[in-house]
Amino acid sequence: METPIYGLTVRDVTKHFKRSKKPEHKLRFFEKIKRILKPEKEIIRAVDGISLDVNIGEIYGILGANGSGKSTLIRLISTLLLPDSGTIHVFGDDVVSNSMKVRRVMNRVSVEASFFKRLSSAENLIYAARLYGISSSEAHKKAESILERLGFEAKRMDEEMEALSRGMQQKVAIARALLTTPMLLLLDEPTTGLDPKSKRDVQAFIEEIRNDRNAVIVLTTHDMVEAERLCDRVAIIDNGKFIADGTVKELLAMAPPKEKTTTTLEDVFIYLTGKELEEGDA
Ligand SMILES: Nc1ncnc2c1ncn2[C@@H]1O[C@H](COP(=O)(O)OP(=O)(O)OP(=O)(O)O)[C@@H](O)[C@H]1O
Ligand SMILES: [Mg+2]
Repeated sequence: METPIYGLTVRDVTKHFKRSKKPEHKLRFFEKIKRILKPEKEIIRAVDGISLDVNIGEIYGILGANGSGKSTLIRLISTLLLPDSGTIHVFGDDVVSNSMKVRRVMNRVSVEASFFKRLSSAENLIYAARLYGISSSEAHKKAESILERLGFEAKRMDEEMEALSRGMQQKVAIARALLTTPMLLLLDEPTTGLDPKSKRDVQAFIEEIRNDRNAVIVLTTHDMVEAERLCDRVAIIDNGKFIADGTVKELLAMAPPKEKTTTTLEDVFIYLTGKELEEGDA
């Protein structure tokens, strides 16, 4: 029997970082000498043996606390980082040996998106679209329509990026990723830091993309309600490992039933990790 080609296949991927245990300026003289002779490093297992499959038309959520490895996993998929071991395939192509091909079919949105800060959002978006061979007028029209759906007033498109709030910059980052039609969309905390109305606008837009396009969407979040609302399947990540994954319904069944109220993803998260996530701002 042939194995089906998933949109995205991640197999047993690891990424470890080495970090000095104490910052240089806090070391005493003899400790500095010791470090030069024998560097003392701590291993951070940012991504530690993760596997997942996501198919076309699905939104796959990765739910985890700060520092659990979400962004590292997204960077590995998006070819920004090389895995230490394991494999990642995007529509059948290996992200390491076929990175150029893979980059053409995917886009990533993250909070640390970089822009030309002194240029306007319109200029930034047109610049990005031109790289993909889209004409300026088409890009402007498309950008305006996406931004408007995200609740970003078109009249502010000519202001310098620098003058926009972080939430507005986030919306420009989302618009930039969607000017083209990526087959794989990596959304690294797309709604973190947005006000409740903007958050709903962005979530509704993500649902629209899922319905309109045949795309694979991977979304990271620490907002349980968002994961429940948007994701077909969710993985809970803790210390670089997936400790549970499945549909929201399957995950909800993992926590012991409560007497008076219904189980939420938050109950499951706390039950499985023993940790609480910071309050979602929705
Ligand atoms: N380039 C790096 N060098 C050293 N350590 C790193 C590097 N990038 C990430 N880490 C460490 O790897 C771990 C996972 O980080 P990562 O950014 O993937 O977490 P995250 O789940 O995205 O967190 P957040 O919710 O805060 O965005 C953390 O301990 C982090 O300090
Ligand atoms: Mg992150």
